[in-house]
Amino acid sequence: MSKVARMDKSAKAEAEVQGELRPGQSVELLKELHILTREGRLNQDSRRKLKQVYHLFQFIEKLLQELPGGGAEATLADHGAGKSYLGFIIYDLFFRARGGGHVYGIETRADLVDRSRALAERLHFERMSFLNLTVAESAAAAELPERIDVVTALHACDTATDDAIAFGLAKRARFMVLVPCCQAEVAACLRQTKALALSRTPLAELWRHPLHTREIGSQLTNVLRCLYLEANGYQVTVTELVGWEHSLKNELIIARYTGQRKASAAARLHELLAQFGLESLMETRFRLS
Ligand SMILES: C[S@@+](CC[C@H](N)C(=O)[O-])C[C@H]1O[C@@H](n2cnc3c(N)ncnc32)[C@H](O)[C@@H]1O
Repeated sequence: MSKVARMDKSAKAEAEVQGELRPGQSVELLKELHILTREGRLNQDSRRKLKQVYHLFQFIEKLLQELPGGGAEATLADHGAGKSYLGFIIYDLFFRARGGGHVYGIETRADLVDRSRALAERLHFERMSFLNLTVAESAAAAELPERIDVVTALHACDTATDDAIAFGLAKRARFMVLVPCCQAEVAACLRQTKALALSRTPLAELWRHPLHTREIGSQLTNVLRCLYLEANGYQVTVTELVGWEHSLKNELIIARYTGQRKASAAARLHELLAQFGLESLMETRFRLS
């Protein structure tokens, strides 16, 4: 290939990348997150990844904009942060240019917390903090402010999503954005009371087979979470995280605080727990004041 042709190809690739990026977006961050290759290029896979990230970001951006001052001073806690790519993208695309606000990443794996801290320092993302805590511990952590405006939990394992909801309630969050992961707690309870349930109701056929116990346990968990949020004064929307076809777990729950505690949701929550033999969860996960 001639030098001119090589230059043409490189300019075309550069233009292509620029076309996909938001104004001012950090190329270095995207490389660190392996969305751009080391050479700063996009491939088929990374283009899809970037689309997914933008898609989720757009939901969160709209919510942030609804906060006082357009969200410029908002606080956001991301639970089960992993490599914190969601927190980094939100910071880069929303908070960085605004000069205010703070993103907290909560993660139990110390290595990932160290890595995120190092990356934030390298990128000069000063208003990002990473806490090596469980979600449950973080509700009482001195490093976090009394109020958090937005709570996110993307595929936070098992009951970490429930802990994130409890955290959001304790911190009087205006919004919670949850994409639940695997869920074992309710399935375990269903398993324990299965024989009794089968003798009592034909509905128990729905979870007689072990695979169905797991599936219905997972489905039921999210239904209970939604009712619990509604009973606590949140308006809830459940939708699909389009573009996450690679994951079986793509249910997106968006909760918006309205202050109107729905008595009917509280009643339904209790009825469902009783119907499924899950009364024990009334005093633990789904305790209503
Ligand atoms: C499936 S990963 C998701 C990571 C990230 N949110 C994402 O979507 O890429 C779940 C992360 O949650 C962390 N985690 C699991 N249980 C947790 C808990 N109780 N408290 C805090 N972090 C937790 C795990 O260490 C893991 O990094």
